[in-house]
Amino acid sequence: MPVKTPRPGELEAIETASADELQALQLRRLQWTLQHAYDNVAHYKQAFDAAGVHPSDCRQLADLARFPFTNKADLRDHYPFGMFAVPREQVVRVHASSGTTGKPTVVGYTQGDIDRWADLVARSIRASGGRAGDIVHIAYGYGLFTGGLGAHYGAERLGCTVVPVSGGQTEKQVQLIEDFRPDIIMVTPSYMQVIIEEYRRQGLDPRTMPISVGIFGAEPWTEAMRRDIEEAAAIDAVDIYGLSEIMGPGVASECIESKDGPVIWEVHFYPEIIDPETGAVLPGGSEGELVFTTLSKEALPMIRYRTRDLTRLLPPTARAMRRMGKIVGRSDDMLIIRGVNLFPTQIEELVLQQGRLSGQYQLVVTRDALLDAVEVRCELQPEHQGADRDAIGHELQRRIKALIGVSARVSVGLPDSIERTLVGKARRVIDQRPKSK
Ligand code: DLL
Repeated sequence: MPVKTPRPGELEAIETASADELQALQLRRLQWTLQHAYDNVAHYKQAFDAAGVHPSDCRQLADLARFPFTNKADLRDHYPFGMFAVPREQVVRVHASSGTTGKPTVVGYTQGDIDRWADLVARSIRASGGRAGDIVHIAYGYGLFTGGLGAHYGAERLGCTVVPVSGGQTEKQVQLIEDFRPDIIMVTPSYMQVIIEEYRRQGLDPRTMPISVGIFGAEPWTEAMRRDIEEAAAIDAVDIYGLSEIMGPGVASECIESKDGPVIWEVHFYPEIIDPETGAVLPGGSEGELVFTTLSKEALPMIRYRTRDLTRLLPPTARAMRRMGKIVGRSDDMLIIRGVNLFPTQIEELVLQQGRLSGQYQLVVTRDALLDAVEVRCELQPEHQGADRDAIGHELQRRIKALIGVSARVSVGLPDSIERTLVGKARRVIDQRPKSK
């Protein structure tokens, strides 16, 4: 097993800095970023001028609240390279996220940005218990998605032996894990479940897999899922968070010794929590929408980027920097069923608590007359395939009503009846409502 608690001298100085030191550095970098964005990106100049603010108005961190937000639409409107703050020749790499409709969102990095990204992912892997010399199996997708290459450069930077498998080909994943005996896997939690199932399908006990730590992210996952994976594979499961517009994986990462929410590497990414309706900044500890301002990005500075992710900021514990709570969901994924807000993660908790259901589930949303209705589809674990599916379904339906307040239809299928996502992020919501014109 890797070392759990960092040894003296193993942390970077900034990870144990005082709050004053962190804030002084944040302010200096924030002032630089605002000026850099204003001077070099036409969109920011226009947006700041329209809001009547100038970079020189930022004298303390709280002044950031006077500056306008940036949205995904701003990136789309300036597709592909219009938000870059450096000449295109200085951009050494682009990534893009596909999105469901329209043009992809394109992000770019200078060599300096790529170096800082690798450093932060290396720090994230170290926080997860990884050390130089470990073997790291990367099953995040490689390509325009930031997961694979982001993890890859960071693991190399830490001095690990990288196995760049990418997503899919689950049988092969198991074979490589068994043969190469990695210490760490970096993958979406939903695909880790698929790998665990493949172990069982091949008659292997997943608890014997050589991996000791899984670094999971790119999609919302719950504490119930953490327990389920840790138990099934006898590993430690830690959370890594990030988004391409801000950098990619490694914006925040959890420490294995505390497992109490990802530490935000906040001298590079300044977090705020806002009320998604009014845009007002909320006090520490409140749940709301996470907003980030980059503090060291050269190619693509982001000022108050609205992530749509709902969570809370938490005080520092294992490191000097603040943490974020588990992502409850994305505001885009929130369903409103007869007036009650519902996130897939709430269903995930209850499905996994049931005990005989696998962690695979989907929410199918339809419209009956004028009201939205939701069906929760889940399935039995193979070892419980003889169980009474109707009874389990009724019980889950009752708990969803009692604990979340939503009347859902629940259908419990046979093992393996829910379609798995083998590459990319799990699709938890299937929206069958008619598209509004
Ligand atoms: O998913 C970057 C990433 C790759 C993070 C690998 C971690 C591991 P995007 O494709 O731009 O980038 O998607 C970003 O994914 O706004 C969240 O909604 C969601 N997300 C990412 N990490 C987590 C996490 C990558 N740990 C969007 N928990 C974000 C919950 C997450 N949601």
